[in-house]
Amino acid sequence: MSSAVSQVVIRPVAGAIGAEISGIDIGGPLSPQDVARINEALLAHCVVFFRGQDLSLDQHKAFTRNFGTLYAHPMFVSEDGDPHAIHIVRAPGDKMVVGDDWHSDTTFAAAPPMGSVLYGVDVPQYGGDTMFANQYLAYEALSPGMKRMLEALRAVHSDRNRAGPQAVLNAARATKVREDANWRETINLHPVVRTHPVTGRKALYVNRMTTLGLEDMKEEESRPLLEFLFVHAVRPEFTCRFRWENGSVAFWDNRCCQHFAINDTGHASRRMRRLQLNGDRPF
Ligand code: SIN
Repeated sequence: MSSAVSQVVIRPVAGAIGAEISGIDIGGPLSPQDVARINEALLAHCVVFFRGQDLSLDQHKAFTRNFGTLYAHPMFVSEDGDPHAIHIVRAPGDKMVVGDDWHSDTTFAAAPPMGSVLYGVDVPQYGGDTMFANQYLAYEALSPGMKRMLEALRAVHSDRNRAGPQAVLNAARATKVREDANWRETINLHPVVRTHPVTGRKALYVNRMTTLGLEDMKEEESRPLLEFLFVHAVRPEFTCRFRWENGSVAFWDNRCCQHFAINDTGHASRRMRRLQLNGDRPF
């Protein structure tokens, strides 16, 4: 066992989800054992946090590539021409922020990103926390009858309310999405209950931000069921809340958790850098 491995400490931050990993510099080259331990912690806790890191974009990319290949986001307007790096910025006066409702990332894509690595570049003294909710626990807490019913259903996911000229998000926030005339809605169907391809566990996979309906159902039929699931999925006992500092990193698994960026920073600004990992089609 290398010395880097033996220094790593993994400490859960809540009963349901999240663990902080200390004793490791993720900006440097990682041993295969370190990568394996981080991966195991991610699979066990759905989101892992690091503090006190100092990551250039290249180091951020090198860390993320330990776990897969980089995802190019279809919707954000790149700040610097790099299709993989999303600069999530809240400017003073912004009315909205990226991720300000519960969601799993980019679920309207046919193969949504499996994970996201978010780095705190310049964060406010207080406010701007991110919450996470464990979707295995959300599924497991349902009754057997509800589980059976949901397992037969597929949900409609779309970016209709998140990009394009009709979404009008750009006027309310510094981080810009595509609003050009060539933008076209992306719609995909995914199972309401997905199976994690590595752990084999079942997780709820619907979210308030991009799940618009249920396959072969009328709006008035699907809406009450989806409303129940949106509220149930993020019950406090399934969540944790992460307080950012400059140099903090959150690495989450979109296949088993949702997250929520709290828009409570008042006049302060907040700058983050996010990379994502390619994922598979949910099943
Ligand atoms: C997101 O990826 O949804 C943004 C999270 C955050 O900025 O805290």
